[in-house]
Amino acid sequence: MTTAEILTVLQREIHTTVFATVDDDGLPQTCVIDLMLADDHGLYFLTAKGKSFYRRLMAKPFVALSGTKGADTLSSIAISVRGRVRCIGRERLDEIFEKNPYMAKIYPTPESREALVVFQLFQGEGEYFDLSRLPPFRQRFSLGGEVLQEHAYRIAAERCIGCTSCLSVCPTGCISSITPRAIDASHCLHCGNCLSACPTHAVERT
Ligand SMILES: Cc1cc2nc3c(=O)[nH]c(=O)nc-3n(C[C@H](O)[C@H](O)[C@H](O)COP(=O)(O)O)c2cc1C
Repeated sequence: MTTAEILTVLQREIHTTVFATVDDDGLPQTCVIDLMLADDHGLYFLTAKGKSFYRRLMAKPFVALSGTKGADTLSSIAISVRGRVRCIGRERLDEIFEKNPYMAKIYPTPESREALVVFQLFQGEGEYFDLSRLPPFRQRFSLGGEVLQEHAYRIAAERCIGCTSCLSVCPTGCISSITPRAIDASHCLHCGNCLSACPTHAVERT
């Protein structure tokens, strides 16, 4: 999936997400925030200037968010994003109310919308994680030109002796049966079993 497709699922189909910000003491704080728009330039959400959420964003303009959809764990997908945000003022506020008509029930009059401002998450990285299929599927993505830092397990071909130690402990079967073995990152749970089991220390975490 492209980043744009993933962000569209996040904004339209999940919509209500949990945001983490950092407070003045450097401690994490979470709150529930709706994603109002998504486009090629990122994700958009709004808040009111009186909220402590607003103050946290202005003081430390970095968020991590997660959202999920599905009836239960094995029918769910989750999308997480972390990155930089900036306040774009009241730009796109009318469009947000147009595309999210329920907002007019919460803020019914133009006067009641006075304190609202829009934020854009414009640069960052994220992960799409699908537990509705087995083996689970995961895909990392970036937005706004962020360079993806790979966090994955891999097998150094020159140290692989072709035993079955890693294969036998892998819960998803994402390790190839040919030698040297290779890990299919899109189905790897990052459990670390292969790293512990490998007798030649061929498995590395990057
Ligand atoms: C379903 C749902 C969606 C919400 N969406 C937003 C939102 O988009 N923007 C917002 O400022 N608050 C939203 N809220 C309210 C915030 O979660 C709440 O104001 C927040 O916890 C306040 O945080 P603060 O006291 O740290 O400012 C939503 C609440 C719920 C239950």
